[in-house]
Amino acid sequence: MKIAVAKGDGIGPEIMQAVLDIFTANKVPIEYEYVDMGKWVFDKGYSNGMTPDAQQTIEDLGILFKGPMETPKGKGVKSVNVTARKTWNTYANKRVFQTLHGVDTVFSKAGIPIDLTIVRENIEDTYGGIEHMLTHDVALSRRFITRPGSLQVIKYAFEMASKNGSKRITCGHKANIMKITDGLFLEVFYEVAKEYPHLKADDVIVDDLCMKLVSRPQEFDVVVLTNLQGDIVSDLCAGLVGGLGFAPSANIGDHICIFEAVHGTAPDIAGKNIANPTALLLSGIAMLRHLGMMENAATIENALLFTLESGVHTGDFGDRSIPSVNTTVFANAIISNLGKTPTHGARPMLPNQPATQTVFKLEENPMIMSKEPEDELIVGVDMFIESSEQPMVIAEKCLLHVGDIFKLVTISNRGTQVWPKGSVFTNMVNQYSARFESVGGAAVTQTDILELYRALMADFKICSTELLNKWGDKNAYSLAQGQ
Ligand code: NAI
Repeated sequence: MKIAVAKGDGIGPEIMQAVLDIFTANKVPIEYEYVDMGKWVFDKGYSNGMTPDAQQTIEDLGILFKGPMETPKGKGVKSVNVTARKTWNTYANKRVFQTLHGVDTVFSKAGIPIDLTIVRENIEDTYGGIEHMLTHDVALSRRFITRPGSLQVIKYAFEMASKNGSKRITCGHKANIMKITDGLFLEVFYEVAKEYPHLKADDVIVDDLCMKLVSRPQEFDVVVLTNLQGDIVSDLCAGLVGGLGFAPSANIGDHICIFEAVHGTAPDIAGKNIANPTALLLSGIAMLRHLGMMENAATIENALLFTLESGVHTGDFGDRSIPSVNTTVFANAIISNLGKTPTHGARPMLPNQPATQTVFKLEENPMIMSKEPEDELIVGVDMFIESSEQPMVIAEKCLLHVGDIFKLVTISNRGTQVWPKGSVFTNMVNQYSARFESVGGAAVTQTDILELYRALMADFKICSTELLNKWGDKNAYSLAQGQ
């Protein structure tokens, strides 16, 4: 078994060395091929933060074990960490949070055990980074939630929960507000749930979920969320078990998987050999399990748990009355504890299994799969127009150009209706959305919309447009607040 390893920036090389030393001491049967990724690769002129050779190696080997990498500030370049996750479609970000004895938290002191897995969608949502300034005062972020993307991550979560014998799987969402985007994610969740009747599947609105996670974390098992909400909730969970120093992460795709710690390059302590390698080690242990190396994973994890229980700690955690040790000493303590069993939470020695990873090249993109319904109509358009005038004035101008095919239905500002009814207390910015629907709900063509666009151009700058689609009797668009 050969994997690609990128040491990373800042504390990356120090903690990676510590982890690989532990692997070597346990005779983990893996060979490493080091690849060039990170800030220094950006600095050499590779705008995506990795060399073509690195990309080729990772695509050939299918597994990347990486240290944290710095995103150069203010150079307009995108994070190599995010680029890697998106380029290789690692659609599920799995983070396991478990009580670690020796790492004091309010929950460990109260005797409340935590054993939670967060599965976060890793590609879509606002992380598409598709953003525009529509006017000097109005910025737009497009948030794509897709059926195939949701299906991939939710299927993964159910499959993992089922294999691990989980009792409950929960969807965190905000579908009460984002009825169409989060509504789609939730709909797919319950569609997939039907295939797993032995799992208790339920959903919790994400704000309520945060409150429940900090008040009764022991009630949750597997939680699946969209990207941004998953990002926030998983850091919240890291706080429950002792902080980012204990938060591992696996980015799972069908072809390539990336294992890394959740934390960054810690530039404030880089080069001092004092960083805590636990999060990267836990990520490495997850990688070993993914590769079927169950015995190695359990032996190393038990040695880590034994070491933490014995009070050995780096400077960022642990009992202050016991002097902290540096990264190398901490790793050596784990090495000397290989073969020992911790008092609490010892991991069972399961037999090795075949790797779950299959690496193969895609012939075609499997994502383009949703079938379009036959009774799909375009029934109108939202025109996003730049204007500093009052809604009544905008409506009068729109009505001048509306013609026979369309009627002006509503004008909204920041999603709140301001015409035909509104409130003088609604604050407005210099961008409105004017909704034109077809008279009598008849189908219109894109040419009709283009004609309307041309007519409106006489009075307005149009910043953006969205078609109003209707599928059967279902409107594929939301209402304005107050409409
Ligand atoms: P950070 O996670 O690097 O540091 C936050 C704080 O936690 C610092 O005080 C740091 O000393 C401490 N810390 C982090 N890891 C630690 C460890 N293993 N042991 C002891 N203390 C630790 O977050 P920050 O400062 O926001 O980001 C620094 C750089 O890392 C940025 O360039 C950012 O883009 C990058 N980053 C990379 C990630 C990745 O590679 N996946 C993830 C997050 C940030």
